[in-house]
Amino acid sequence: MKYCNLGDIRSSAIIAGCMRIADKPLLQTEKVLFEALRAGVNTFDLADVYGGGDCERIFGVAMRDLELPRKDYVLQTKCGIRKNEDGKIVLFDFSHDYILSCVENSLKRLNTEYIDILLLHRPDTLIVEEEVARAFETLQTEGKVRAFGVSNFSAGQMRLLKKEGINVVANQMQFSLLHTPMIDAGLNVNMYEDVSVSRAGDTLEYCRVNNIALQAWSPLQYGFFKGVFVGNENYPLLNAELNAMAEKYGCAPSTVAIAWILRHPAFKQVVTGTTSPEHMQEMCAAADIELSKEDWYKLYLAPGRTLP
Ligand SMILES: NC(=O)c1ccc[n+]([C@@H]2O[C@H](COP(=O)([O-])OP(=O)(O)OC[C@H]3O[C@@H](n4cnc5c(N)ncnc54)[C@H](OP(=O)(O)O)[C@@H]3O)[C@@H](O)[C@H]2O)c1
Repeated sequence: MKYCNLGDIRSSAIIAGCMRIADKPLLQTEKVLFEALRAGVNTFDLADVYGGGDCERIFGVAMRDLELPRKDYVLQTKCGIRKNEDGKIVLFDFSHDYILSCVENSLKRLNTEYIDILLLHRPDTLIVEEEVARAFETLQTEGKVRAFGVSNFSAGQMRLLKKEGINVVANQMQFSLLHTPMIDAGLNVNMYEDVSVSRAGDTLEYCRVNNIALQAWSPLQYGFFKGVFVGNENYPLLNAELNAMAEKYGCAPSTVAIAWILRHPAFKQVVTGTTSPEHMQEMCAAADIELSKEDWYKLYLAPGRTLP
C-alpha cells in the first residue's frame, strides 16, 4: 500500500468507500473492512446522507466489532447535502449551524469522539465562507474534527475557502477511465473540438499547486452510477486493452483501471465502493502497480479518444 499526507494525517492510496453498505449483511461489511485493513487501507469514506445515515451507523458497529483502536484508522465523512423524507436532495447547506448539527449527528451514528477529515459534500452556491470558517474553527477547537476537505469543488470555490484561511487537504471528484473531464481539456487546449471545453476549470492544477489530494470517486463506473465498465460488453475496446494490461502486469483488469488513476500525479487516492472482500483485494493491489507512461496513454486512448 502507498500512503499520502492529508495535512498531518497519513492516509492510504486506496480508501474504502462505505456508500453501498446499508443493504449488505453486517458480517459481509466486516469482512470487507477486515480485508481492506489487512491490505494496508487505513482510511474509510462515508457521508451523513449515505443510506439515510445507516452507513455511518453500520460502520460504527463494524469498527466496534473489529476492535481496532480508533487512532489506528482515518475516518472521513461529509456534510452539506439535505434531503427530504422521501430521500430526494432538496438543497445544499453550508450554514454555520447546519454544519455543526451534521457533525454532532455523525459523531453519534459513528460512535466516535472525533472525525479525522470532514468534507463539504457538494458546493452550496449560497455559501457564506465566513460562516464555514467559523464552524470549522469551533469543530477543530472542540476536538471534533481534525482536518477539512471538499468534494466536487472547482478551483474557484476552493479559493473562496482559502480566502478565509481554511486549509483544504482533499478534494473528492468523480474520475475514472470513462469519466475524464478533469484531464480532457488540459490535453486539448485551444482547440475547436468539444473536448477542449473545460468542465472542471483548472481544478486539477489548483489541487497540485496547493497540495490538495484529489480522491477519485466511482473509479469503475461509467456515467453517474450507471454501472461498471470493467468486463462490460458495451466497452469492447477499453476492455481489450484492460485485459492485455492485466496480463502484462499480472493482475486483474479492475486492478489496472485503479492503477491508471493512481498513475496520475494529481490523484493521490482512489475511493473504492466495493462490498466484496475479493474485489477489495483487487482494488488494493493497484497501489503496488506502476503503469508505464506509454501504457497510461494507451488506456486513455483505448475507448476511442484521440490526441491533438
Ligand atoms: N463525493 C461524492 O460526491 C461521491 C459520490 C459517489 C461516491 N462517493 C464515494 O466513492 C465510493 C465509491 O463509489 P462507487 O461505489 O460508485 O464506486 P465503484 O467502486 O466504481 O463502484 C462500486 C460498485 O462496483 C461493483 N464492482 C463490480 N465489479 C467490481 C470489481 N471487479 N471491483 C470492485 N467493484 C466492482 C461493486 O460491486 P461489489 O460490491 O460486488 O464489488 C460495487 O457495486 C463510495 O463508496 C463513496 O464513498 C463519493
